[in-house]
This record gives sequence, C-alpha cells and structure tokens, in this order.
Amino acid sequence: MSDQLLTIEWKNNKLVLLDQTVLPNEIIYKEYDSAESVWEAIRTMVVRGAPAIGVTAAYGLYLGIKDAPESSFEDFRKTLKEKSELLATSRPTAVNLFWALERMENIAETNKGLPVAALKETLLKEAKAIHKEDEEINRKIGENLLSLLEDGMGILTHCNAGSLATTKYGTATAPIYLAKERGWNFKVYSDETRPRLQGSTLTALELQKAGIDVTIITDSMAGVVMSQNKIDAIIVGADRVAANGDVANKVGTLGVSILAKYYNIPFYVAVPTPTIDLKTKSGKDIPIEERDPEEVINLFGKWTALKDSKVYNPAFDITPAENITAIVTEKGIVRAPYRENLLKIFNDFY
Ligand code: MRU
Repeated sequence: MSDQLLTIEWKNNKLVLLDQTVLPNEIIYKEYDSAESVWEAIRTMVVRGAPAIGVTAAYGLYLGIKDAPESSFEDFRKTLKEKSELLATSRPTAVNLFWALERMENIAETNKGLPVAALKETLLKEAKAIHKEDEEINRKIGENLLSLLEDGMGILTHCNAGSLATTKYGTATAPIYLAKERGWNFKVYSDETRPRLQGSTLTALELQKAGIDVTIITDSMAGVVMSQNKIDAIIVGADRVAANGDVANKVGTLGVSILAKYYNIPFYVAVPTPTIDLKTKSGKDIPIEERDPEEVINLFGKWTALKDSKVYNPAFDITPAENITAIVTEKGIVRAPYRENLLKIFNDFY
C-alpha cells in the first residue's frame, strides 16, 4: 500500500482531506480549520465512509473548540456541545459519527478538572488516538477475515469500504490488502454502486493502485457473476449494525445479500466495533439518509431524465441479519444468533 492516497491528515494544526468527489480524475487535498467547514465536507461527501466520517468529526470538534474562551469549564462545555450538535447533523446513518463525538465529549467530562487550555490539548490527542486506532482495527479485521478465505478466490464488494473510507486498509478491503502482502491473489469484482459510483471511482481506483486484480461491474451485473461461479465470497462494510445484527450499508447491499443467499455464497460484513450500535434495536430503527434527487438523474452535469421526474434516493438499505453469514470485527468473528453474540463481543472486551 506504498502509494496509498491518504484520506485524512492532521497537518500544521489543520485537517487535510482528500476530496473524494473528484476522484479518480483529480487528486486534490483541501484544508479545514473550523467545525462548520468540516460539517460541509462530511455533508457533501468530500470525505465519506463510516470510519473516515468518525475520525473527521473528532478533528472537526477539536477545530470547533480550539479558539473557545478559556475562562470556565461551563462556558467551554457550551461551545463543545454546540459544535458537537452541529457536526451530528452532517449525515444521519453512519453511527461512527455519533460515536466519535460522544467519545470526545466524554473525554472532556472526565478531564473537566483540567485548565481549559490543557483540556483542548487532551481533545486533540483523543482525535489523534481515534485516527490511529482505526488503522490498527482495520488490520485486525483483515486478519480475521483472511481466516475465512483462500488464495485464488473471487470476491465481490459493494460501495467503498476501502482505505479511502478509513485511515488505512479499509474494512471490507483489509483482507484483500493483507492477502496481497502474503502473495495471495484474489479476483475482486467491484459493483459500480449507483448513484455516487463509490465502487468504480474509489474501490477500483485504490485496488488498481495497489496492483490488485479488480474488475468493475454495474450493480445489475452482480447476479450474472454469481450465476457464473465467479464469486466465492462477498465482503461489504457497514454504516451501522443494530443489536439484532441487521446492517445498514450503501443502497444495493440488500439486493447483493439476497442474491448471495440464492446462490449460496457466504456474505460477510466487515465492521470495526464503533460501527456496532447496541442502542439501536433493529434495522427498522436505523435512520436512513435520503439524498438529493439530482444524484440519480443528473450524471456528470447531464440530465438522464426529465428534470422534474419523481425520484427516490435512499443512500442506504438494511440487510437483515438472516442474510449475513458472519459479521467480522477486530475483536473476532460474530455469527448468529447475533443479538447474543454481538453483546458477548462487547462484554468480553470492554
Ligand atoms: O455514502 P457513503 O459513501 O458514505 O457510504 C459508505 C458506505 O456505505 C460504506 O460501505 C460504509 O460506510 C463502510 S466504510 C468502511
């Protein structure tokens, strides 16, 4: 992964984000120094993917409080809450956003005895810790997933749960990068992923740059490749896993899971534990983002339907737990019954 594109960097007390909206045609890095500009970057998908959104929000919250008055903790807490609430409205589905903001707020509460200037430094350290942990987590997810795979397999993925959606390795792509380090060869199929094309513009880009064999297909071709025995395993990421094992991920994941069941192909979901939300009981309770209709009917500045067409554009769907062979985390491989076994992962490790 030597010439990996860096998604997020903390540089000269500013946040630097790779602008994912212009990939693969342009490589542009943008600098951010306020919570408001970070909010805009998440909302417009300059940065996207659940873990990357979480890391970005943590830095965004620090940027929001770095110039806050230092006279009292109570005044500081007011600014912290205000900026956290703002960042929380950037996107609704990926729980990592809320997880990271909550973790930052909790650190402030735990350290409220510190002078505010020192507390600000503590919050920056926490954001950096969240950033660093993400890389370690992904490597472990990759190792756990690799134990379920074999050299030479055909793997289908949907959307981008790759290094661009995280700090390094990605979640769904982590075993693919680790396999490459071992000298294994997978044949990867990447769904294009309408409407924002994360599969072709991001997943295929990063895998190709790493010298991995990747083939792009349109979303409607997933059934064909499965019927032709080209796929031995499906690996996707997640934006939120509910307590019962239902998974919210990029729209189209549900269809892939149904096809996988029909063709009897293992369907794995790769998730860092911060993506597991035990407070959300089932998929029905996960808020699904609906995005601008233009994403569906305006492609690269050209209308592909009448401008005033009726459009439905949910950005995510819910894959029911029963379609999932295993949820693979950094703490281990979780199988049904998910309600019991997801809880166990938390009880055993926290
Ligand atoms: O709308 P996006 O691009 O933020 O959606 C991203 C996904 O659905 C990913 O699969 C998910 O966040 C997991 S990223 C490791």
